[in-house]
Amino acid sequence: MVKIQLNGCSSFVQEADYKEYVEKALAAFDVLAGEKGAGSDFLGWKHLPSKTPESLIRDCEAVRDDWKAKGVDLVVVIGIGGSYLGARCAVEALSHTFSTQLSVRNDALQVVFAGNNLSEEYLAELMDFVAERNVATVVISKSGTTTEPAVAFRIVKAWIEEHYKDAAERIVAITDAEKGALKTLAKQEGYRTFVVPDNVGGRFSVLTPVGILPIVLAGLDIRAMLAGAKEMEVALADRNEANPAVQYAAMRNLLYSELNKKVEVLVTYNPKFQYLGEWWKQLFGESEGKDQKGIFPASVNFTTDLHSVGQFIQEGDRMLFETVVNIEKSNRSVVIGSDPQNLDQLNYLAGQPVEHCNAMAQLGTKLAHIDGGVPQIVLSIEKIDAFNLGCLFYFFEYACGVSAYLLGVNPFNQPGVEAYKKNMFALLSKPGYEEQSKAIRARLK
Ligand code: PA5
Repeated sequence: MVKIQLNGCSSFVQEADYKEYVEKALAAFDVLAGEKGAGSDFLGWKHLPSKTPESLIRDCEAVRDDWKAKGVDLVVVIGIGGSYLGARCAVEALSHTFSTQLSVRNDALQVVFAGNNLSEEYLAELMDFVAERNVATVVISKSGTTTEPAVAFRIVKAWIEEHYKDAAERIVAITDAEKGALKTLAKQEGYRTFVVPDNVGGRFSVLTPVGILPIVLAGLDIRAMLAGAKEMEVALADRNEANPAVQYAAMRNLLYSELNKKVEVLVTYNPKFQYLGEWWKQLFGESEGKDQKGIFPASVNFTTDLHSVGQFIQEGDRMLFETVVNIEKSNRSVVIGSDPQNLDQLNYLAGQPVEHCNAMAQLGTKLAHIDGGVPQIVLSIEKIDAFNLGCLFYFFEYACGVSAYLLGVNPFNQPGVEAYKKNMFALLSKPGYEEQSKAIRARLK
């Protein structure tokens, strides 16, 4: 369960203003619940936790077992944006930090990601790694035409075809049910396929095969994740002022619209959640940043970033507020020992778990940032595990829908993502872009 605490905002906002925004958030909630608002043909994500069939998970497990039987030990997961970030977030959050360096390995397949950039060096180094391993790949693209994953897939596919007789069995495509280049290729080559549902947009797709297959391949507990998401699906369906998605949407819009807080910084105190920040930024950035509106989503990892952008947050332009993902319990315990010489003067901490220091850093930072003019929302989960990550995924998706409707934008489109693509295709002289190529070259002269 995700719990919300708003006391870190109370010295900044008036109770009456907050109540007004809760009313607005409840009206936005009605739009989302009624499924009649802008983009309502993209609401399939709302029911994924309760409707995902066990057979889908078993099909994913069958791929995993088949690849393990072939001796596969590395899976390259290719995708970008919504076809990448949810899976990456889950793998980073739930895997042992040093899983690839540990001498005692579990028998999970190693999952690495590609197709999320156009760096030549990244791809070259990926292929150095691929050359040392027994490889399979999952290519994920809803449209089937996105350049970054298409480039990476072309290279990985060629390598697999060159090195394995059973190449087609080592490739799985996750794409549209009917259309797109990837669907056509998969049919032609006989790849196994999974479907990205029509009614789920990329950034809301982590609980479709887009996230489920990589999560299963990485040996993570997808059933627990779906159970966590389902608990939130039930909890957030309640229309009331205590609904944490309503409260979160209300407070962030109040801070944005009335206090000119244009930037929301998602704060975590565990490096495992670095990619939660990346996933969350896409979710809110693509959902809300349109029509010249929206809170700019940023993320930091404390205490690491207290030694960098912490200075800005404490004393820079007062344009931001924080949303802290609080983890109530650590999964591991490391106790600080006593040292007879005490040269580092840490004996006052002897006998304390390291997490106690982290918790006090978190509390001290909260007070300092509030004193410095930074309101703070806190979202708490019990611990980092698959269940609670499922809770967070669903909570943020639902809250994002409510918040974007409150802001007055369509949460489920992303028209702005096309602008750079058009220029890039024109500059690359893609067939069909001849006119744009001429125009852009003239502009660059
Ligand atoms: O949220 C979105 O729609 C985008 O970020 C897409 O997920 C991203 O562009 C990848 O698209 P596709 O899955 O069609 O390759």
